[in-house]
Amino acid sequence: MSPAERPIVAITRPDLYGDPAARLAAVADVRVWPDAKVQPTTDEIADLAKGATALLCLATDRIGDDLMARLPNLKLVALASVGYDSVDVAAANRRGIAVTNTPGVLNEAVADAAFGLMLAARRRLAEADRYVRAGLWKENSLRVMVGLDVHGATLGIVGYGGIGRAVARRAAGFGMKVVYFDPYRNDDANATYAPLDELLRISDIVTIHTPLMPGTRGMIGEAEFRSMKPTATLINTARGGVVDQAALVRALREGWIGSAGLDVQQVEPNPDPNDPLLSLPNCVVLPHIGSASEASRVAMVMKAVSNVESILAGQPPLTPVKPQA
Ligand code: DGY
Repeated sequence: MSPAERPIVAITRPDLYGDPAARLAAVADVRVWPDAKVQPTTDEIADLAKGATALLCLATDRIGDDLMARLPNLKLVALASVGYDSVDVAAANRRGIAVTNTPGVLNEAVADAAFGLMLAARRRLAEADRYVRAGLWKENSLRVMVGLDVHGATLGIVGYGGIGRAVARRAAGFGMKVVYFDPYRNDDANATYAPLDELLRISDIVTIHTPLMPGTRGMIGEAEFRSMKPTATLINTARGGVVDQAALVRALREGWIGSAGLDVQQVEPNPDPNDPLLSLPNCVVLPHIGSASEASRVAMVMKAVSNVESILAGQPPLTPVKPQA
């Protein structure tokens, strides 16, 4: 292939694990957004990807119809994420653009993070760490930082796909009773189906593993929090938009539920120290690091690269997504 015929691939970050630019340089001219600290805007992605056949991007890049209209050569949006709420998939498909994600490779890492948040929130681990660092640990008392058990608790899993099932497998080792809710019945030996209202009512811990889509946006709001146990813990490693964050702040402040562990928020990143969420001692907040083990991050990027290679070789995408219902 002469240089003039080589396809163009655009990558929206310079610091991805696994060096996707080096691997794709074998089959394409690769353009990489240069600034690891500043995320490209829509205009900047349009410039970067001008003439591109494939765009390798992250869940934080908004890929709307307006952007795709400016990229007439585009055949593929390859996400290095399992979530694809950032892409207008219906518009992409109308334009003959495939959208791919990275299912499977991050299930275990996100399930680990969900358990970390359960332990941190219920056993007050982050709060206890702050207490020691602040020099407040001055006496030995059996009442210091007493929390609630994770082992033996009733766990409600909302969304029983790959990540939800990985959470249920771990729960067996913690001796938990596990119920799940999912619009698609997916029974296995690790969890029993329960309607959402029952799950919320009986669970000590509710953990969210559903994608963000029109039907799940704000699905956990005031009514749902009020139906939960006053000691319950909410865990969210999915998407901030699934939870009504203002209602969550009230629920935590006014004791409708006991605690929360969040890897995701409605607006990300969130550097606002005055966000009411961050003033709540009973809420553990992480910067969307559920999949952030090095091995998972490499696997996610490599899956996106494999999708690009497949399209460039004239083959179908390996892990295409469908528009969300
Ligand atoms: C995903 O893969 O969707 C994770 O949330 C990382 O963005």
